[in-house]
Amino acid sequence: MTPAKTGPLSAWEPTAGTPFYRQIYDRFRGAIDSGLLKPGDRIPSARALTQELGLARGTIEAAYALLAAEGYIQARGQAGTIVTPELRPRTPMASPVAPAADAASRLGFRPDSVLPFQMGLPALDAFPRKIWARLGARCVRAMQPIDMAHPSVYGLPALRAEIAAYLQVSRGIQCTPSQVFLTSGYRHSIELIGLALLKAGDRVWLEDPGYPPTQALLRHMRIAGVPVPVDAEGLVVSEGLRRAPRARAAVVTPAHQSPLCVSLSLPRRMALLDWAARNEAWIVEDDYDGEYRYVSRPLPALKSLDREGRVLYAGTFSKVLFPSIRLAYLVVPQPQVERFEQVLQTFAGGSPALTQAIVTAFIAEGHFARHIQRMRKLYAERRDAVRAGLESVLGSHMRIDSPPGGMHLILRLQGRRSDRKLAARMREAGLYAEALTNWTQDHQGSPALLLGFTNIDSQQAAQALGRRILALM
Ligand SMILES: Cc1ncc(COP(=O)(O)O)c(C=O)c1O
Repeated sequence: MTPAKTGPLSAWEPTAGTPFYRQIYDRFRGAIDSGLLKPGDRIPSARALTQELGLARGTIEAAYALLAAEGYIQARGQAGTIVTPELRPRTPMASPVAPAADAASRLGFRPDSVLPFQMGLPALDAFPRKIWARLGARCVRAMQPIDMAHPSVYGLPALRAEIAAYLQVSRGIQCTPSQVFLTSGYRHSIELIGLALLKAGDRVWLEDPGYPPTQALLRHMRIAGVPVPVDAEGLVVSEGLRRAPRARAAVVTPAHQSPLCVSLSLPRRMALLDWAARNEAWIVEDDYDGEYRYVSRPLPALKSLDREGRVLYAGTFSKVLFPSIRLAYLVVPQPQVERFEQVLQTFAGGSPALTQAIVTAFIAEGHFARHIQRMRKLYAERRDAVRAGLESVLGSHMRIDSPPGGMHLILRLQGRRSDRKLAARMREAGLYAEALTNWTQDHQGSPALLLGFTNIDSQQAAQALGRRILALM
């Protein structure tokens, strides 16, 4: 354990009245009682803490002696000093940072554990972890002293080049490696776009329904989201033109609209590009899972049609690899490269070099392309199996859409049943669900559940889960 875990010990301040040894005792006791330090956790040796805090060794030893006498800690010789293993926290584990009661956490948008139907996750059982481990070990062994210095804030040059090549071949995007910037995720990419190209008070078209974090992020940047409806052809561009013709940008998910899974039609793509060119507005293409299309080959990215340099393409490794990797990328039009470089120099710390090196090897050695192909096949199978399993149980209560791509199903509820109530009951019962009406601006519209299917591996499993949903209706 590091001293930081017990609180700001390093910001040590002698407090009038309370002896130092007592203050140290209080900090450890507080950390143990609240569960921050758990039974069995190692605490720093008296010698290390003496050096860390710049206090007399006797002071630390007096605090430790008191904690030991009261049974909080035990000295284990060579194994160091630990929190007594049999100890029970006084108060239930109090989270030091209580989750904010903002809209995103009310929706429970990022749960702590993987639940059946969890959205946004690739098939965690199908990731080639052995290959990953082998490449990882090789990259660690190959590390040179220089690799331990700060990485480029733009991204590892080799990875930028691999991504540019991949985008050219697979998504039809022509770009140079210098246009590709590595980020820590979609939100980071949006933040950088906001810093480089937008300002407070700007208006931005947002798909309605749409991915809730985009709206929340823009709101924090004091940028006004203008809801633009989505129909069977994707964003209704004419409606955007009517509502906010002078908007500075539009954020779209053209491959599979999030969450309705429709694709932006070619006429709409052209209309959107035309609007952006005429108004010098920006289009942010969120291509979070464009690789996963099951009915035909993946559609080329909107960016591939961008002749005027208005599209910023946001890709992520969260779906094609796994989300804990926290690696995404942004492709910016050539004339904007310098502006983004400046923003990144100030606002980006760079992504972990080792992770980038592993991803580079994964792509360069063909594992990435193979993995995507395997997942495309697997997800098509799982989509069909989960749909059939759920339909056999819930078919008379819901209509289940079969999306042409993506990683979730849409279960349309019949009548005026509340999707929010059902989703909340499912969460309580340990099942994941998002309510479609929570993804709309006015929380209205036809009720539906959004369920991730990628981690459910058979029709039988889906049937069993369907019965659990039925019992909650
Ligand atoms: C619509 C949409 N955009 C982007 C992302 C990617 O987010 P990130 O790169 O932060 O994992 C997701 C992930 O769930 C998503 O659903």
